[in-house]
This record gives sequence, structure tokens and C-alpha cells, in this order.
Amino acid sequence: MPFDRSIKIAPSILAADFANFGAECRAIEAEGADWVHVDVMDGHFVPNLTFGPAMCAALRPHIKGVMDVHLMIAPVDPYLQAFAEAGADIITAHVEAGPHIHRTLQAIRALGKKAGVALNPGTHVEAVGDLLEMVDLVCVMTVNPGFGGQSFLHGQVQKIAKLREMIGARPINIEVDGGVTVATAPLVSKAGADVLVAGSAVFKGGSAASPAAYGANIRAIRAAAQSALG
Ligand code: DX5
Ligand code: ZN
Repeated sequence: MPFDRSIKIAPSILAADFANFGAECRAIEAEGADWVHVDVMDGHFVPNLTFGPAMCAALRPHIKGVMDVHLMIAPVDPYLQAFAEAGADIITAHVEAGPHIHRTLQAIRALGKKAGVALNPGTHVEAVGDLLEMVDLVCVMTVNPGFGGQSFLHGQVQKIAKLREMIGARPINIEVDGGVTVATAPLVSKAGADVLVAGSAVFKGGSAASPAAYGANIRAIRAAAQSALG
């Protein structure tokens, strides 16, 4: 997985048909998705439940590219090996999920995976300042995690810009997650994000059997993000 800073669209399967995940993953990739974003929720760190490592392992053969696993769980450390064995390429843990995010990130890299750290909207960007030597991705939440379809929190755009400055030339992707649409994509790309997670805005209007809308949605979000880069 070579590093690159071009705009990447990562559809969140939280907005897919839960009875048809394999076909949904194949459809979004065929329609131009760069990464597949998998939202793992535990009903404890966030007030919603989704799925665990067994689902990730079942999805793996249906994803040709990058499986980007976003863990919204606490504790997180006891499950890292299971998600690594399930075939995640990137494992992202929240800085708020426990007292030892540094250890968590070391463990992810020791498992041979790319390590990501996510920040809730209420967390100051400096919370990742001492972690930048040990991460491959920082995920800025632009909604409070737990649910798809929420409104983008505009106050987070400044955080992305600050993070872009802090990262400098390091090979670290900036991912934005929550409320990304054609309208908000230019704001986040201009501030410095390169991975745009989008659930509702990608899956609206289509289905695995009729995926053309997925392609149109992905292209529209990508074009909007790129337009802000001049
Ligand atoms: C929120 C998840 C997001 C979410 C994005 O907790 O981490 O990935 O699914 O969904 P939209 O794009 O609908 O805001
Ligand atoms: Zn997510």
C-alpha cells in the first residue's frame, strides 16, 4: 500500500444493505471507490452496535483494495489481533478509547498493519501531536461517532488545517469521517484531507443490483474535493 496524497473516496458500508455486504463491497469498488471503510461499533464507546472481526473476515474476499477498519470500541487492545487476522489493511483506534493509545498503535504496527488514530469532535488536535511518528493515518471525525447520516460539523475544518500543518512532510493520510457530501468535500480537501469517508452520500439512490448511482456519487464527491485544490 504505497503512500499517496491524492484524493481517495472511502465509502462507509454503514450505509450499505446489511443483508448484502459482499455484493455492496464489490459494487462500490467496481464503481470507483478507492478504499472500503468498515465501521466497527460496540454499543459502549459509541451508542450503536455493528459487527466484529468475523464480519471483516467474511468481507475480505469481496474487497480487492484497501479494507480500512475504523474501531469505535473500548477497550480496543484485546481485539487488534482478530481484526488483523480478518485482513484489515488499516486499523484505526480512537485516541479517546483508553489511556494507552501509544501502546495500541505500537501493537497495530507490530501486527504488520497500517496504524490510524481517530479524534472525536470534542478532542483537541494536540492529542495526536506526540503520536505522529507512529501513525500512517489520522482520522478527524466531523460528526460524533455512532451513526451515519448526521450533519457535518463545520467547526472541525480548522482542526484538519492545523493537523495538516503539524504533519508537514510526514507520510500520513488525513481522513475525514462524517457528513461528507458534494457540499462539504471541498472544505475538507482544501483544509488538507486526502481520504474522504462517505456513507449516505455514496449509497443514496443505488443498490448492488443497480450500482450506477454509486459511481455517479463517488465521481461527484471526488470532483468536488479536487475542485478546491485548483
Ligand atoms: C460514524 C462513522 C462514519 C459514518 C459516515 O460513526 O464512523 O463512517 O458511517 O456516514 P455519513 O457519511 O453518512 O455521515
Ligand atoms: Zn467511520
